[in-house]
Amino acid sequence: MKILYIGSGYVGTCSAAVMADSGHDVLVYDIDERKIKMLASNNVEEIESCLLEDGLCKMLANNKDRITFTADYNDVVKALNDIDAVFMCLPTPEKEGSEGESDLSYYYKAANELASHLAKRNKGEQSKYIVIVNKSTVPVNMINMTAQIMNEHGVINFGVVSNPEFLVEGKAIEGSIRPDRVIIGAEKEQDFKIMREVYARFSSTNVKYIETNPYEAAAGKLLANYLLFSKLAVTFDVIGRLCEFFPNIKFENVRQIINTDARIGTWGLYDSVYAGGSCFIKDAASLAHQMEEAGANTHQIRLSLEANKFQRDHFYSRAEKEAGFSWDGKVITVLGVAFKQNTNDVRHSPAIDIVRHLINSNVSKIRIYDPAALPMFKNLFNPKNDPRYEKIEYFDTEEEALKGSNACLILTDWAQFRLLGEKIQSICPPPYLIMDGRRLVQDKYEELQSKGYDVIAVGSSFLKSKI
Ligand SMILES: NC(=O)c1ccc[n+]([C@@H]2O[C@H](COP(=O)([O-])OP(=O)(O)OC[C@H]3O[C@@H](n4cnc5c(N)ncnc54)[C@H](O)[C@@H]3O)[C@@H](O)[C@H]2O)c1
Repeated sequence: MKILYIGSGYVGTCSAAVMADSGHDVLVYDIDERKIKMLASNNVEEIESCLLEDGLCKMLANNKDRITFTADYNDVVKALNDIDAVFMCLPTPEKEGSEGESDLSYYYKAANELASHLAKRNKGEQSKYIVIVNKSTVPVNMINMTAQIMNEHGVINFGVVSNPEFLVEGKAIEGSIRPDRVIIGAEKEQDFKIMREVYARFSSTNVKYIETNPYEAAAGKLLANYLLFSKLAVTFDVIGRLCEFFPNIKFENVRQIINTDARIGTWGLYDSVYAGGSCFIKDAASLAHQMEEAGANTHQIRLSLEANKFQRDHFYSRAEKEAGFSWDGKVITVLGVAFKQNTNDVRHSPAIDIVRHLINSNVSKIRIYDPAALPMFKNLFNPKNDPRYEKIEYFDTEEEALKGSNACLILTDWAQFRLLGEKIQSICPPPYLIMDGRRLVQDKYEELQSKGYDVIAVGSSFLKSKI
C-alpha cells in the first residue's frame, strides 16, 4: 500500500519505519527541513541526534528503498493521487494557559493543507478512495472535526479512522513491531478493510487487533494513559511518601510485597521525582478538560496531576527544609535532563523546572550532563533569552560535571547513573548533598552517610551524614 505520514516526530518516524518494514511504500512529510534532512541522511549520528530510538537507524537503512522523507509539499501533492492512507502524526500539546484543552492548531493547519490538495487529486475527480488516520492523541470527538475539514474543502471519497499510538519512547521500534494491541476505530467496513491491509503484518500474530468505533478508540488511548499516570502518581504520593515519613520502611522492600500481587502488577512501582514526558500529563489534563466540558466531575484526574507536580516541587524544597542547604551561591551538578532513560526527549522533563528553580535560587553555577538530551535541553536555556542562563555549563561526562560542585541532583534514570555512588565519593569530598530523584544509588545510601554525605532521595526520609 502507499502510505503518507504527516509529521516525522517520535510517532510519525517510528511508525513510518515499521510500515516500510512491513512492505508498504512510505512517504514522510514534515515542515522541519533540518529534521527531514537528518532523518534522510542514512547517518546514525545524525539520525540519533534528532531522534534517539533503539533500532530506528537500522530499520531505516534496511528499508531505504521503501521510505522517503521530504519537506517539500510538492512531493506530497504528487503522491496524493494514489495514496491509500494518510497518517496524521502532529503534536497535540496542552494549550498554553488552559486547564488541559488540546492545542489542535498543528493538526488543523496540516489537515486544512491536506484537504485543499486532496480535493484536487486525480485531476479533480478524486477517484482514489483515501483514509485519513488520526494517529496523534486527539480529543474523543476529533473524527468529526477531521471529516468537517475535509467536507469544507470539498473532499469526497474518503474515510476517517482513529488509530491511537501506544508506543513507549525509548522502546518505540520494538514496541511497534510487537505491540500489545492495535486499535482501529472506524465507522465503515471499507475503512476497516483498508486498515486490515495496512496492518497485515500482525494478521497471524498474537497482537490483539481491536476494531471499535472511533470515539472509543480515542477515549481508550486517553484512559489507558491516565491509568498509567495515576499509578505513578499514587506510587510517588502514597507509597514513596509513606517511606519518606517512616524511616524503618524501605521503598524497595515494600515494593516487593506489593508487586507480587498479580492484580496490582509490577509496572510503575518505582519512585521518581516526576512523571514527565510528552504524553501522560497532557493526556490526563485533556481527559479532564473534555469530561469537565461535558459536565462531569474530575476530582480523581485533577488530584493525580496535582500530586505529580507536588512531587517535583517537594523534592527540590527538601534541600532547604530538611538538610538546611541554601542554594544561594552554590555550584550544583544536574545529572540527567531527558525525561527518562533511553530517549533524548526533554518534554515535561523534571530538569526543566528544577533548573529554573536553581536559577531563581541564585546558584553560582549549574553543571549539567546527560548522555543524549543536551542538544534538546540547550534550546530551552538560551542565554540570549535570559542572561542568567550563562550560569549553565554542559559537560561530556558525569565525572566532569561533578567536579567542584557542592551538591548534585540525579534526575534521569540512565542505567550508567547507578554507579554514581562510587563516582561521587571519588570526585566530590564531603560535606556534600546528594539528591537522588530516582533512587538509583539506594544500595549506597548507608555507605554515603557513613562517609559524611547528606542524602535526600525520593522515597526515603532525610539521610543525614553520620560524621
Ligand atoms: N511521543 C510519544 O511517546 C507518543 C506516544 C503515543 C502518542 N503520541 C502522540 O502522537 C502525536 C505526535 O507525537 P510526537 O511525540 O511524535 O510529536 P513530535 O513533536 O515529536 O513530532 C511532531 C512533528 O510534527 C511536525 N509538524 C508540525 N506541524 C506540521 C505540519 N503542519 N505539517 C507537517 N509536520 C508538522 C513537527 O515538526 C514534528 O516533527 C501527539 O499527539 C502525541 O500525543 C506520542
